[in-house]
Amino acid sequence: MAKQEDQFKKVVSHAKEYGYVFQSSEIYDGLSAVYDYAQNGVELKKNIRNYWWKAMVQMHENIVGIDAAIFMHPTTWKASGHVDAFNDPLIDNKDSKKRYRADVLIEDYVAKLEAKIEKEVKKATKRFGEAFDKEQFLATNPRVVAYKEKGEAILKRMGKSLENEDLADVKALIEELEIACPLSGSKNWTDVKQFNLMFGTKLGASADTAMDLYLRPETAQGIFVNFLNVQKTGRMKIPFGIAQTGKAFRNEIVARQFIFRMREFEQMEMQFFVRPGTQKEWYEKWKETRLKWHLSLGMGEENYRFHDHEKLAHYADAAADIEFKFPFGFKELEGIHSRTDFDLSSHEKHSGKKLQYFDPELNERYIPYVVETSIGLDRMFLAVFSHSLQEETLENGTTRTVLKLPAVLAPTKAAVLPLVKKDGLPEIARKIVNDLKWDFNVAYDEKDAVGRRYRRQDAAGTPFCITVDHDTLKDNTVTIRYRDTMEQKRVKIEELRSLINEEVAIKNWLMRM
Ligand code: GAP
Repeated sequence: MAKQEDQFKKVVSHAKEYGYVFQSSEIYDGLSAVYDYAQNGVELKKNIRNYWWKAMVQMHENIVGIDAAIFMHPTTWKASGHVDAFNDPLIDNKDSKKRYRADVLIEDYVAKLEAKIEKEVKKATKRFGEAFDKEQFLATNPRVVAYKEKGEAILKRMGKSLENEDLADVKALIEELEIACPLSGSKNWTDVKQFNLMFGTKLGASADTAMDLYLRPETAQGIFVNFLNVQKTGRMKIPFGIAQTGKAFRNEIVARQFIFRMREFEQMEMQFFVRPGTQKEWYEKWKETRLKWHLSLGMGEENYRFHDHEKLAHYADAAADIEFKFPFGFKELEGIHSRTDFDLSSHEKHSGKKLQYFDPELNERYIPYVVETSIGLDRMFLAVFSHSLQEETLENGTTRTVLKLPAVLAPTKAAVLPLVKKDGLPEIARKIVNDLKWDFNVAYDEKDAVGRRYRRQDAAGTPFCITVDHDTLKDNTVTIRYRDTMEQKRVKIEELRSLINEEVAIKNWLMRM
């Protein structure tokens, strides 16, 4: 646990030191769970967004994008169920006066059981060596099986109690498990209450005519209310999808773990409209497609898993998360939800406008069913950033900090370094920068010894360093150094563009899907 915390602290401080993420309004001591993206962070975020947009919109003939407003008519949120049901169960500790999400306290308890299982696996791996069969061990070791069954029973009971709004049982569960306040160790809890997560605001100048609005808690509703506009103007035929990326806002009770859970964040969502009765098939297809997208980035198959929901949101008939192994354990990265016809039916009812599709093949009119893929851009940023930050011990015993971002997402693709600040080398380096910057984001760096510059670029996540030296004057070649292997090659200046392109082109990464 302490090792995980240390690793996470390194992630947060590295993000600040290398210009990725700053606390919002830091000079005023910041604002809880609100963050700003800095000069490198904004590029990484944009690259992740583009990577998603390419894969989800531009590579599909039957998926188009929109960019709906953050403000929406307030009835939207009544229809979507957010006014009545977008709640988190909160509980206060009477001694520490700290507020928690009751379900998160219970989930953290279960995560500790999972950590115990992992520990047993590690011990057994050491004991049995090559002969160790993990699957069999997980299925038969009595201690492991007991932990697993206990965890499952707890989550099942919690899911049921939350679904039935039985908040007294959620409190009873916390008491039975003897869960203590992580801050004070006290078990003196208040009752569990529901808390609506939407931020309210007002539209209009005078107090008596102002209209109560909400900041959207998800981008999906902007898609639902535009469903028919897009279908008609784009002459879309079912099955088809509408995608968008944009800000969402939630007044999270427990906002912690850096950019994992924020109050203002960005989502990348796609609603896929299908024939009723085919939703299960599409749900499975999108689960598989989305996992492949993640795997295409090469961050290790073992770091992802599916988690099927016990407790379904008010709109879903099936739901699963793609979880990623963050520095603090496996947590939700993306959700895939089979949302039925809940949203469109409800908007039809509340607006009095028909939101139906005429299916020419069936010669029938119906409200489509929807399968949604929804990923937090900031959470994806954290997954990529935390996975990429590594400390390596080199052959000569020294260590280096390297941010091994997938090259396709790296903010700066190459840094061009003149070996010395004289003899015409800076001029050649500048010329290379000016030439490459049409195609890639490139940097120029002439300060300090070249070894230190390499280290600086390693830590900033730049996949290539291009060094101009005295041989360049003679034969027009430069040294290209690869961040991950530190391998160096001599190449002609005119080869640089195609060489870098090969490594960073979205196409070459997405083709792995
Ligand atoms: N439209 C469906 C929807 O919003 P969700 O599971 O509540 O579903 C989808 O959110 C994704 O948005 C999550 O998987 C997560 O990546 C991201 N997300 C949700 N709340 C967040 C928060 N407070 N901060 C950062 N990302 C968040």
